[in-house]
Amino acid sequence: MKKINWPIWPKYSLSDQKSVQKVVSSNRLFAGKKVLNFENKFRNFTKSKYAIGVGNATQGLHLALAALNIGKGDEIITTPFSFISSASCILMQNAVPIFVDCATDTLSPNIDAIEDKITKRTKAIILVYPFGYAIRADRIKNLSKKYNLYFVEDASHAHGMFYKKKHAGTFGDIGVLSLHQRKSLSVGDGGMILTNNKLIAQKLRKLRSFGHEELSYNYRMTEFAGALGLNRIKNLNKENKIRQKNAKILDENLKEHPFIRLIRPISFSISVYHKYLLRLNTKLIKCSLKQFSEQVQKKGIPLKIINENRNWDLLHRHSIFNPKVNPARGLPWLDKEYKGFMRKIKSYKKIKLPVIENLIDNELLELPIDPPVNTKLVNKAIKVINETINKNCY
Ligand SMILES: Cc1ncc(COP(=O)(O)O)c(C=O)c1O
Repeated sequence: MKKINWPIWPKYSLSDQKSVQKVVSSNRLFAGKKVLNFENKFRNFTKSKYAIGVGNATQGLHLALAALNIGKGDEIITTPFSFISSASCILMQNAVPIFVDCATDTLSPNIDAIEDKITKRTKAIILVYPFGYAIRADRIKNLSKKYNLYFVEDASHAHGMFYKKKHAGTFGDIGVLSLHQRKSLSVGDGGMILTNNKLIAQKLRKLRSFGHEELSYNYRMTEFAGALGLNRIKNLNKENKIRQKNAKILDENLKEHPFIRLIRPISFSISVYHKYLLRLNTKLIKCSLKQFSEQVQKKGIPLKIINENRNWDLLHRHSIFNPKVNPARGLPWLDKEYKGFMRKIKSYKKIKLPVIENLIDNELLELPIDPPVNTKLVNKAIKVINETINKNCY
């Protein structure tokens, strides 16, 4: 079979180009009307009371914790299965991340595991919608209320994803979405913060743009990003439907496969498939997960292990949380005044999170299925996956 040419997401349209050109002609390139209009569109789209545009989701997450007064010695319960930003924001505030193992259905920490780790130092829970699949955000919200904690949702993969009819990022105190080039709503670099709380929104706005009264930042979204976002949000639902159609074909064709386990979106949700995820039982084949993915990729199908080419190792194993050289501000979990769980453990590398470690190391694969990936290409991917499994059977 000829090597398959899998399309790269995204492709910017002529109208995208025009929207950016108009910003240049207007001579107002920093946050202005376009950003404001985009924020309003986003607010309506997600049914959130407030939407605040920022330079990227990393800035958004940092602002979220700053606005919630997270600081030195606070513990923040979070997931190890994410990009660094959902936990590096904790370090930016000199607080201590507490990583909790994930459940196999949501690929996110479940309520009991989180509750187990709550101490008098816990101030917030940050969870992610992994690759556009839902988590039980309503239950997490209830848990956070019970213990008087903040709940921050990193919905960077979940544009247009509704769980129990509410948009991802609107359950907790603050939600953050990334609009990075590779995301479903793609403006190059950009982020959006959602909240329903007026006081938090006011504080976020102050911190975003030189609040003057306290240490603040310049984390504004550019006018280019606002213009692109306004133009591209129109297509988001249509594009998500294509992702969902592609996923359905994969599900239908792979669900009976004895070596494969599908990741099914939980009840009351439809994933928006930032990536399509599946589990391969590598105990039944002769090669490792990485070798399997390499063989499939040689045929042109970008079925990848999660931490390929990217900074996506599980966070408790990631160098940011296990630095060779300590940063100038020190490591918050080694601070003498901090007496919590991580002070005793000292090193994140010592933590064992067996469920998610096994999934990442031995089972989980991701496939991009963004438009213009179509039925024909998805069927080719299924064929290659089946052939590669057959080739590696004992
Ligand atoms: C889950 C998650 N959170 C946060 C980010 C950071 O987004 P940004 O690049 O907009 O800062 C990413 C980026 O890939 C991500 O995947």
